[in-house]
Amino acid sequence: MYDMHSHFLPGVDDGAKTSDISFKMLEADMQAGVTHILSTSHCYPYKNSDIESFLSDRNAAYKKLKEKASERNFILPDIKLASEVHITCDISKFSSLDKLRIQDTRYILIEMPSSPWSEKVIDTVYKLTVMGFKPIIAHMERNQHQKRDFINSLYDLDVLIQINAEAFYIAQLKKTIDEMMKNKLIHLIGSDMHNMENRKPNIDRAAKMIKKRYGNECLAYLNSNACAVWNDEEIRYSSMRSFKKKGLFGL
Ligand SMILES: [Fe+2]
Repeated sequence: MYDMHSHFLPGVDDGAKTSDISFKMLEADMQAGVTHILSTSHCYPYKNSDIESFLSDRNAAYKKLKEKASERNFILPDIKLASEVHITCDISKFSSLDKLRIQDTRYILIEMPSSPWSEKVIDTVYKLTVMGFKPIIAHMERNQHQKRDFINSLYDLDVLIQINAEAFYIAQLKKTIDEMMKNKLIHLIGSDMHNMENRKPNIDRAAKMIKKRYGNECLAYLNSNACAVWNDEEIRYSSMRSFKKKGLFGL
């Protein structure tokens, strides 16, 4: 299985604090059946240099983790470096944005603001698609409080939707997830693991629930989508992209 959202790199963001915790997280994720993990440390780009310093920290942390893994004979899963890019403003203008893509792919993991969305934020995602990025919207289940028009405008763009594993077993989210599944609006899942306490690896728990509620084919579909992203292939999906493209918010 693929884990498409994680914060296991030590000391880069609010994820793993030490490499010991990183190894525990990776071990637990692999025991849960994960073979491929996207490393998606948080990046908050308010200016171009924020991206450069993030990349420098992230890459150094990964290099160090690989060295420590080799020292202790820890066999790492397949890992790709990426980032969870928060839309802080019009990030499309930053020249280094390209380096935040999921390693060797056209895909980029985007974290939408939790504050009320505006036309500008949807425009920014649209601009990314025009620039050749393929945005993946991180943990979309968290955005359900936003205005329906904005959510529908986002779905109408050429984006993929990622859901966190926990959303499949939190009772209050069942209705939302059922509805999204019905409309084929879930393309990828990820643990979004941050530690070994309150945000630990949990893909296996979600996988069991997906199989039980939606069937084996659904889990296979999510896994094949992840495989396609990993290999920079197009995903053949259908969703409720029924909204006419009447020029999104003036664009
Ligand atoms: Fe995250």
